[in-house]
Amino acid sequence: MKHIEGYLRVSLFLSEMGKLSGVFSLRHFLVLSLALNVALISRVVYEGENWREEQIRALMADASEKSAHVSMSSSPPPPSPSTPSSMAVTSTEIKDDGERVINLDHGDPTMYERFWQQMGDITTIVISGWQSMSYFSDVKNLCWFLEPEFAKQIIRLHKIVGNAVTDNYYIVVGTGSTQLFQAALYALSPPNASEPMSVVSAAPFYSSYPSVTDFLKSGLYKWAGDANNFNKDGPYIELVTSPNNPDGSIRQPVVNRSGENLVHDFAYYWPQYTPISSPADHDLMLFTVSKATGHAGMRLGWALVKDKEVAKKMTSFIELNTIGVSKDSQQRAAKILQVISDSYEPVGNPKESGPFFHFSHSMMEERWKALRSAVKQSGLFSLPEFPSSFCNFLGQAFGSQPAFAWLKCEGGIEDCGNFLKKHKILTRNGKHFGASPKYVRVSMLDRDESFNLFTKRLSSLHLSQSKDHEEESP
Ligand SMILES: Cc1ncc(COP(=O)(O)O)c(C=O)c1O
Repeated sequence: MKHIEGYLRVSLFLSEMGKLSGVFSLRHFLVLSLALNVALISRVVYEGENWREEQIRALMADASEKSAHVSMSSSPPPPSPSTPSSMAVTSTEIKDDGERVINLDHGDPTMYERFWQQMGDITTIVISGWQSMSYFSDVKNLCWFLEPEFAKQIIRLHKIVGNAVTDNYYIVVGTGSTQLFQAALYALSPPNASEPMSVVSAAPFYSSYPSVTDFLKSGLYKWAGDANNFNKDGPYIELVTSPNNPDGSIRQPVVNRSGENLVHDFAYYWPQYTPISSPADHDLMLFTVSKATGHAGMRLGWALVKDKEVAKKMTSFIELNTIGVSKDSQQRAAKILQVISDSYEPVGNPKESGPFFHFSHSMMEERWKALRSAVKQSGLFSLPEFPSSFCNFLGQAFGSQPAFAWLKCEGGIEDCGNFLKKHKILTRNGKHFGASPKYVRVSMLDRDESFNLFTKRLSSLHLSQSKDHEEESP
């Protein structure tokens, strides 16, 4: 608002000056106008940056003040201004009697609720009873059930963040990237092959890949395990997840043989998790709102596909599977993406929207610091280290701060999942990811209450507890 007022004042001044045109030449006005515009633009940029820092500080302060309150229910309700505080205690006095079950098995991104709640009504959309009724969104588009506004906002966000090339790509929308993953397997497998196409991924791999691949016992494709051990001739599909779920590593294909078909799963290639080094431009790339903005319940993902025939086959799969994808969800997602992009573009009004990636990046940074400190205090665990690299989007260097912690139990504990379960911390055992049970995957995306309680409990686990555990489970 201040900028607009300033601009009006400048325009008024120039028009007044125009009346003196007899005294000044046109060149004088142009030079003066240029100088004023440069001054105005630098002020807008300066104030925008300042605003971002202030806003993040305010949001973080609010978040930590609220996280200082621990709800004692096992499944805390979403934070809301009207949540009664009678059941709460302050963080300095968190009393962990060790009885509450902390469930960090799923990567449910409820951590982001607080941010979107702070944004108030800016992301609210109203869909009337008569809207979104047709099956069709855009009959001229190869993916006819893709809402044009959602497509527009996907392209806009990728351009702003710089994490993927979108020119000359087809966009296919899916009910979560889970549906798109299956559509990709269908589209990349030859229909008349004598045996199913092998599907591989380097261990530790995302635990859903084997089960989703083999769920329907398809004759087209079959899970073939760890890509590092794959040595069969002929075509294959390799799933490259980067940053990787569960261990956060940055990945490249490992098989590298003729007949390769790559699916790049970029669920976590966003600046809150990892530095954005360059726009990805692979043949088939999967993204999801679940981990980008935290809206897992919308069940929306998108694929960027280079090859037209592959995009057509993926569209056919979704056509036969669910006859398209919810229009209501796409409209809601379009709004969410638009609000994020608006907050990063000079034309946006930053007072009403928010710097989502700055906020979520800071939050993940805080959480990783807290986790590393708890691990150090305990002495029973270890975590992967991540090299620092430059993020073109945030304009700073940092090491990955993944959505999951790949935690290893030291001190002779053979089954880390069981050990933590004994202390009422639920995680996902390493064996689900094709790895050793000495590892577990821990979600870093839960609400503050769970996360804070988790780090508190973890820091209190010491060698004596590990010995008790080993004695009890021969
Ligand atoms: C690597 C990876 N891909 C895909 C998904 C699924 O995403 P969606 O919720 O869009 O189905 C997840 C969810 O945890 C994931 O970790």
